[in-house]
Amino acid sequence: MIDKKQMEILSAEARKAADMAYIPYSKFRVGAALLCEDGSIATGCNVENRSYGLAICAERNAVVAAVAKGKRRFTALAISTPDSVEPVGPCGACRQVLTEFMSPDSPVRFAGSGPKEVNTTIGELLPWDSLYDLAK
Ligand code: THU
Repeated sequence: MIDKKQMEILSAEARKAADMAYIPYSKFRVGAALLCEDGSIATGCNVENRSYGLAICAERNAVVAAVAKGKRRFTALAISTPDSVEPVGPCGACRQVLTEFMSPDSPVRFAGSGPKEVNTTIGELLPWDSLYDLAK
C-alpha cells in the first residue's frame, strides 16, 4: 500500500516531468510519474510532432521509459497538467496501456494548477476490462 507521503512525492515528480514536455503545438504540458514495484519512479512527458496525430502522451512515455529499464509492474500513477486549472485524467489509449502493467486497485492521482485533485484507481478509469485475464 502506498502512503500519502509517497503519493505526494509521485505528484511532485509528475509536476517536474511536465516541464520537460515538447509542446510547440498545443502548449499544454503533461507530466506523468509511475511508482514501480521496486520503489523507483519513472517519469514521462508529452512529446508532440508537426504531424499532429503522432503526439505521444506523457503517461505512455512514462510506461515506455519504465519498461525500457526493466520495470514491468507499477503500483501508483500521478499526472500533472499545470496548464489547466482543473485536473485532467489520462486519455482512453493511455488507460488501456496502463492497465497492462497495473492492478485495478492501483491508485491514480491527477491534478491541474488549481487546488482540486482527483484520487481514483486505474480500475475505475478503465472498468469492465474484459481482457484483464489475458495479461496474466
Ligand atoms: N496529452 C497527454 O499527454 N496525456 C493525456 O492523457 C491527454 C493528452 C497530451 C497530448 C497533447 O500533447 C496534449 O496533451 C494536448 O492534447
